[in-house]
Amino acid sequence: MENLLTDRLGRPLRDLRISVTDRCNFRCRYCMPPEIFNKDYKFLPKTEVLTFEEITHLSKLFVDIAGVRKLRITGGEPLMRQDLPKLIHQLNEIDGVDDIAMTTNGSLIPRYAKQLKDAGLKRVTISLDCLNDEKFRYINGRNIGIDQVLHGIDAALEHDMEVKINMVVKRGMNDEDILPMAKYFKDTGVILRYIEYMDVGNSNGWKLDHVVSKEEIFDTINKEMPIEPIDPNYTGEVADRFRYKGTNHEIGIISSVTDAFCSTCSRARLSAEGKLVTCLFASKGHDLRDILRSGANDEEIATQIKNIWNHRDDRYSEERLKYTDKKEMKKIEMSHIGG
Ligand code: GTP
Ligand code: 5AD
Ligand code: SF4
Ligand code: SF4
Repeated sequence: MENLLTDRLGRPLRDLRISVTDRCNFRCRYCMPPEIFNKDYKFLPKTEVLTFEEITHLSKLFVDIAGVRKLRITGGEPLMRQDLPKLIHQLNEIDGVDDIAMTTNGSLIPRYAKQLKDAGLKRVTISLDCLNDEKFRYINGRNIGIDQVLHGIDAALEHDMEVKINMVVKRGMNDEDILPMAKYFKDTGVILRYIEYMDVGNSNGWKLDHVVSKEEIFDTINKEMPIEPIDPNYTGEVADRFRYKGTNHEIGIISSVTDAFCSTCSRARLSAEGKLVTCLFASKGHDLRDILRSGANDEEIATQIKNIWNHRDDRYSEERLKYTDKKEMKKIEMSHIGG
């Protein structure tokens, strides 16, 4: 019989999101703005980052003792980590994993697509916020042209990977790109998802006025190209799904601000340095690396994981307005724990 590990709000642990590096070749203004690099900031030294063997070991425990079925590789930019396909291959060998996906900015996919595919990666989620080259170069903070990401999308498709696009919508930044993005991806077989801009990290200057709501995104698209809701693929799916009427072309909207989904949140995050983080908005994680490196056996590590999850009561997005006034609340940067 399957073990069912649940938290204080009765939520199981199904989905483990693994950050493999805190580094990125982009400097998106809403994620790694220059202000983040204050005098205390440093990227993790190599010795502090989990090795592939450590990641695989912990992942296997999460699958065996907690019931995790889905793994997502994130960063920073995961393809900045050397030999990443090797890790995918190792994770693919774990019995009980139904799904492995990766969130990436897409720019390095052309270089690694074949290796990733051969290692068993079946799907990728690529971040892309607009199709306007000049604006895109500004948003990513590194003057990287749109073509690099479009080539990444093509390379993933050529290698038969399923592709989803994440577009973070921020008022004044790219709200005028909602429709052009929908039109561009409509007939491509790629699923575009719009994400309400969130107050992750400490430095992106988030304000409620920046948020373009799910409702507004829906209306903007629906006025020009009518869409209708479709059922979720699974309980707790983050995106609300829609299809263009009369077709099977799908889009999604992720409404973590105006319609939070904490009540079904079965996601845990493992940071690059081996901290178990129970909410995207947590101020700190629980260290698993030192326990692992101290020579603890699997049972001891498993007990620690179970305790952490049993005590979890996070529901930040449902309580957001209570917190956003409190400037002193320090959150983990998104570039440390992925999306
Ligand atoms: P599928 O496995 O394809 O269903 O992907 P997913 O829906 O898990 O999507 P993905 O991991 O690409 O997440 C999309 C975006 O949703 C992330 O980049 C975040 O911005 C947001 N998101 C994902 N998980 C959470 C979460 O637990 N809490 C909040 N607040 N936002 C989340
Ligand atoms: N709000 C919403 N989504 C964000 N992402 C990064 N920062 C934010 C934010 N402030 C998204 C990226 C990427 C994923 C890792 O998280 O666009 O798709
Ligand atoms: Fe941009 Fe993703 Fe890199 Fe953050 S981690 S700077 S969102 S590409
Ligand atoms: Fe889960 Fe925290 Fe996101 Fe709510 S805010 S859905 S608890 S990660």
